[in-house]
Formats: sequence, C-alpha cells, structure tokens
Amino acid sequence: MVRTLSGIQPSGAFHIGNYFGMIAQLIKAQQSEDVFAFIANYHAMTSVLDGARLADQTREAAIAFLSLGIDPSRSTFWLQSSVPEVLELYWILSQHAPIGLLERAHSYKDKVAKGLSPSHGLFSYPVLMAADILLFDADAVPVGKDQIQHVEIARDIAIKFNNAIGGELLRLPDFRVEDDVAVVPGIDGAKMSKSYGNTIEIFTDRKTLEKRIKQIVTAPIPLEAPKQWENDAVYRLCALFLDENGKAALQRRYEKGGEGHGHFKAYLTELIWEYFAAARARSEELKRDPSKVDKALAIGAEKARAIAKAKMARIRSAVGII
Ligand code: ADP
Ligand code: TRP
Repeated sequence: MVRTLSGIQPSGAFHIGNYFGMIAQLIKAQQSEDVFAFIANYHAMTSVLDGARLADQTREAAIAFLSLGIDPSRSTFWLQSSVPEVLELYWILSQHAPIGLLERAHSYKDKVAKGLSPSHGLFSYPVLMAADILLFDADAVPVGKDQIQHVEIARDIAIKFNNAIGGELLRLPDFRVEDDVAVVPGIDGAKMSKSYGNTIEIFTDRKTLEKRIKQIVTAPIPLEAPKQWENDAVYRLCALFLDENGKAALQRRYEKGGEGHGHFKAYLTELIWEYFAAARARSEELKRDPSKVDKALAIGAEKARAIAKAKMARIRSAVGII
C-alpha cells in the first residue's frame, strides 16, 4: 500500500489554503492509502518562540486535524516531538545536506529577502523536513506548491545518503500536488498565507467569516454588466467547494450580469459555512473533552515511534553509530 505522509506547522490558525493544499488530500488518501500525518511543532519553533503560545497552537492544530477528518484508528497521527528519533536522523542527514542546496531553498531565501536575520534552525529547516519524510519510508508527500522544493531537497539528501552508504536504505519520496488547488488565493488575490494576513480561517464564527469575505478585493463593475470569472478571487474560492455542474452554473451567473460581487460573496460565505459545519461541531466537542485528543495522539505516537525506532536502528548501524 502507498504510504502517504505530510505534516503541518502549528504556527497559527489553519486557513482554507492549508485545507485544500494539503489537509484535504491527506483525508482523501485515507480511503486507499496508508496515511501518516503529524503536527510539525519542532518546525514551528523557527517562527514561534513563545513556549505557551506554541503549546496552545499545537493543541489547536491537533484538534483541527481530528475535526477535519483525520481518523486516528485508520491513519497514524502524532506530534512530531513525540518521536525524538527524528532529531537524531536530522543530524545524520545534515552530513549529506550541502550548504549550496539549502541556500537555494526559496522559502529560506524569501524570508532573508524580507529582512529576517536567519537562525541556523531556519536555515536547516529542510533537513529536519527530510528526516520527517525519510524516517517513515514515505512514498508520496501531499503539499501545496510552495513545499515542492522541500520535498525535492529530501529526495536529494536521500540519494546522497544512499550513495554514501552504498545501499538503498532510504526510500525516495515524491511530492503530490493537486493541480486545481495548487495555489489558493487569499482575500487580496495573492497566495493565501498566514504571513500575508490575507487568510480565511476554517474555524471562525459566522460574523468574522462574513466580514472577511466582504474584504475580498474585486474589480468595480456595474451590477448589470457581465463579469469575468476566470481570474476572479471570489469565483476561484467558490470553485474549491463546487463540482463541475456547480462551477458551470456559477460561471453562467457571472456571464449573465445582473448580479454583483455582493451576491457572489454571500454565496461563498454560505459554501464555506456549510462545508465546515460538521468539522466545527466536532471541534467544539473535542475542546470540551481534551482527553479524547490526548488519547488519539498517544495511539499515533506509539505507532509512529515503533516504526521510527526500527528504522533508526538500521540507519545507525549503516553509519557506524554504536
Ligand atoms: P502559510 O503559508 O499560511 O504559513 P504553511 O506554509 O504553514 O501556510 O502551509 C501548510 C501547508 O498548506 C503546506 O503544505 C502548504 O503548501 C499548504 N498551503 C498553504 N497555503 C496554501 C495556499 N494558499 N494554497 C495551497 N496550499 C497552501
Ligand atoms: N514544511 C511544511 C510546511 O510548512 C511542514 C512540514 C514539516 C512537512 N515536515 C514535513 C510537510 C514533512 C510534509 C512532510 O507546510
């Protein structure tokens, strides 16, 4: 069975870009694949240094994943920090991670270009991500477009490691991106991202959702005039929730004229609100009973750790750590 693995940082509230870029893919994969999903709390330390905040956000992220449909009895779901072997592998892989390769990482370069003074942790972020992937022999790694390069770096590091030990101990992973949702637009039309402050959060109250959707930037066109749907952010967001018939019907409404962006925004609000209704209810329930979250995470940690320990024993032996 294909092993599908991905992680997400608990660096803020999840938004619909995270959902369609990555979370939904993992949830769907559960039907036919062996899914490994984790909360990357070590990675989040590159941006969240307030311990109390990191702990809160980690818990919230776990609740969000479980509410959205990660099934801990079917998949392996854990906190990255419950499997400390990943940090040992990170060190070993560091010996096979050329500085030049890491210097070319877009996400690192973007942060430096924005004036952030980088730590070693931020610089070596892709090596820890490689350890996450390679420790569990992942075949496929579902991610949004911005993470493709990191998965390629993991693959490069695995090849270098395998060459160095003269074997095939590390499985080479492939990234997986859904073309339709490769980049979910934010309320300003640019890529939706926490760092751009343009997100639509999944778990939000109705008023905030309405307010947020009203802020989506649209071209000022008279109500009667036909409208272009192709590059319209409201249309693109609606399309995420619609099947082919639904999309065709909405396209006709745009082309016909007589409706303004206010109407389409109200429709989008309704689509989002309905789509996440069940997840919202589950999230409230888990917040009332945190022991359920702890239990789910404990089961996952045990499964993940057993696999990690066995793999690490083979890796240690291959590199001469006795
Ligand atoms: P953010 O950009 O908000 O900080 P992350 O970098 O934590 O989000 O991304 C978590 C996951 O969600 C990654 O797999 C990423 O590729 C995906 N993702 C984030 N934003 C989008 C988006 N706008 N469209 C598609 N996928 C996205
Ligand atoms: N870097 C990923 C992100 O920001 C999160 C992540 C950490 C990850 N380790 C991973 C994703 C391993 C896939 C596989 O979204």
